[in-house]
Amino acid sequence: MSLTKHAKLNAWIEEIKALTEPANVVLCDGSQEEYERLLAEQVKSGLATKLNQDKLPGCYLYRSDASDVARVEDRTFIASEKEIDAGPTNNWKDPNELREEMKALYKGCMHGRTMYVIPFSMGPVGSGIAKIGVEITDSPYVVLNMDIMTRVGTKVLEVLGTDGEFVPCLHSVGKPLKEGESDNGVWPCAPIDKKYISHFPETRTIWSYGSGYGGNALLGKKCLALRIASSIARKEGWLAEHMLILKLTSPKGQVKYIAAAFPSACGKTNLAMLIPTIPDWKVETVGDDIAWMKPGKDGRLYAINPESGFFGVAPGTNYHTNLNAMRSIEKNTIYTNVALEADGTVWWEGMDNPPKGELIDWKGNKWTYPENGKSEAGKEAAHPNSRFTAPAKNCPAIAPEWEDPNGVPIDAILFGGRRPGTVPLVHQSMSWNHGVFMGSIVGSEITAAAIGLKVGTVRRDPFAMLPFCGYNMGDYFAHWIQMGKANPDKMPKIFFVNWFRKTKDGKWLWPGYGENSRVLKWVCERCEGEGEAVETAIGYMPTMSAIERPEGVSEEDMKELLSVDKEGWLAELKDVEKNHYPKFGDHLPKELLEQIKVIEDRLSK
Ligand code: OXD
Ligand code: MN
Repeated sequence: MSLTKHAKLNAWIEEIKALTEPANVVLCDGSQEEYERLLAEQVKSGLATKLNQDKLPGCYLYRSDASDVARVEDRTFIASEKEIDAGPTNNWKDPNELREEMKALYKGCMHGRTMYVIPFSMGPVGSGIAKIGVEITDSPYVVLNMDIMTRVGTKVLEVLGTDGEFVPCLHSVGKPLKEGESDNGVWPCAPIDKKYISHFPETRTIWSYGSGYGGNALLGKKCLALRIASSIARKEGWLAEHMLILKLTSPKGQVKYIAAAFPSACGKTNLAMLIPTIPDWKVETVGDDIAWMKPGKDGRLYAINPESGFFGVAPGTNYHTNLNAMRSIEKNTIYTNVALEADGTVWWEGMDNPPKGELIDWKGNKWTYPENGKSEAGKEAAHPNSRFTAPAKNCPAIAPEWEDPNGVPIDAILFGGRRPGTVPLVHQSMSWNHGVFMGSIVGSEITAAAIGLKVGTVRRDPFAMLPFCGYNMGDYFAHWIQMGKANPDKMPKIFFVNWFRKTKDGKWLWPGYGENSRVLKWVCERCEGEGEAVETAIGYMPTMSAIERPEGVSEEDMKELLSVDKEGWLAELKDVEKNHYPKFGDHLPKELLEQIKVIEDRLSK
């Protein structure tokens, strides 16, 4: 009997079933009952641990395999028909060869397992900006996480109807079970060289094999909402970006929506949930990782958060660094690879207090808190990339309009990275193309020796999209330039921020966290045509009195934070010109080279 009313979907389900040979097939309805039943099965099988339900109601803990703890960029492929369309920053494979290689792995890979079919919507169900995907997976962990991170089930099939468009997303943990065999409480996955995270942009399909973790397996997130969506967005004239979205309200009640792109682990979740230190300003969260932005009828860019949950990094999150995140994960949350306390609660490095006694670490071993309070690298209680998966609606600061199907109009876009030197606290672009230039040079400075990388050099992560752009990044830059052409006056203002400036002896110049609201205030004022600014060689910058100094920041510090480091910028431009832009060959838009010239000229005056 057909599982759905959609002939193409039914045919695909049959095809995958024949290829992967599961023990049975379940169409997920997205109900609470289904979610709870699966969790109970997972606890029974030893794969999930039920946490203290008085303290953490509805919360569970998973421990993954030590080889399966993060996204695998080396094993992530963009299999476009032509290599040039994947561009210089992606791993390319020939789509036909890759399909054959993977089909051999998929053959019989679901033996002894249930094949789940998950219809999901990225974005509010039925929104004009939303896209539908269907993930086939043999991982109950994936079903549970997709339930939190996306909108799942029957309601999505209703929108899909009999012939709606969907992105087929195939996933297997790559560990078939023999007759009578079970996982025995051990996280199933394949060895690293058998892991594949593959994208076929022309046919808009995703094939993932061998990993059960995060963005490798929850295919709505990085695979669909960024890699495939970015390539669709280019064709359809919109933007799929690795950006948080926040709503900022001033004491006068002025509302500004701000999107911000920072590379992974630069504090997107913290900024999205920021609690301002300046009185009577309010920040509310629309999204913390991904923004889809489309021009509206009025020519402005409207953004939705395509996700419905947070898949956040646990270490470092505490009641001081991110109160709203902590509140969001007090219930109905799945924890992965954090440590377990004796009372059935969770702990990780950077938690407010030391643990209450002996822990079980993320590998399942006993763990004692070191006397000096510092976990040795590689011996942490919680894996540095341990995560929480929490429903966005848990967040006390969630904006009421976070699910508005029309999206929110974006006033400002921020770019930033970890830059101990050169880049000031904030500067504003002089034009859209200047803003695109800013996005194109985003990166973080390498601070510790890493094999093959020189300390002090900048590892570029343009638009924070390096691992997530589904096509040639040179063409991506050109698409951004193009987006500014139709309604230049209606486009968001673009800013470059840097919370990570250090003194020469390595001390932070800026306290960050809630104090970043001072910068958001200036951004808001600039959007209103106010906000004191000076025109400098690198863009508009706040005057010394435009941003009130937080406690602990001296006038000298502020001067350093708000000055143009001429030498530093000239070296920066040289680095971009010599080491960064040449990678993109003739796909690099000339407008970006022009920006280098213009800024260089201004700096040399
Ligand atoms: C993420 C990432 O997991 O950007 O969100 O790496
Ligand atoms: Mn991210």
